[in-house]
Amino acid sequence: MYKRQARAGLLIDNLMDLSHETYLHGGYIGTPEVAETPITTEVDDKAGIVYVSRRMADAACPPFYARSTGITGRITRWQDIEFTPPCLYKLHSRIAPAGVLPNADGTDPDAFHVEVVYAITPETESSTHDFWAVARDFALDDREVSDFLRESNRTVVLQDVTALDVLERVLTGEPDGYQELSVNIDTGGLAARRMMARLAEAAS
Ligand SMILES: [Fe+2]
Repeated sequence: MYKRQARAGLLIDNLMDLSHETYLHGGYIGTPEVAETPITTEVDDKAGIVYVSRRMADAACPPFYARSTGITGRITRWQDIEFTPPCLYKLHSRIAPAGVLPNADGTDPDAFHVEVVYAITPETESSTHDFWAVARDFALDDREVSDFLRESNRTVVLQDVTALDVLERVLTGEPDGYQELSVNIDTGGLAARRMMARLAEAAS
């Protein structure tokens, strides 16, 4: 858990748009393909879930996954986000050698899966408790892989902490307020905001 000196909304924006991995987490989990690959966004109002999916068919394998999975070539990489406002965020991540897809029956024995969970807990208007956990389904008994992934995940999360804390200071430092510009990649984050606004309205 980390405490962020940034409003919870900034963390949600960050997690709903993983294209930032290319720029902020290069050398760990960011490669050019993340920012280059379009996303699909779906909203299930009844279930209260926003889905954002990015499927990279042929991508570079970032060091983070090369070292932990043993894959040496290019990869097929999926990032399937499932956000249940206001606070439960799940990232289903799938990594496999390029071209390897799940079987027709849904089994997926040749892929590596990583599950990331965040419980985003606002503390004040401008600070957030950031509870997070990461699980995997490979090399379960390999202590070296566990240690490597623990440190790498910690580094990546701290890179986000640093960036969002700076962003918060920039936003609060604007005496005349600020204007947001949203682009295509923000569709997931904007859908999340709309759902959060409806929840807040219903609760008031
Ligand atoms: Fe990040």
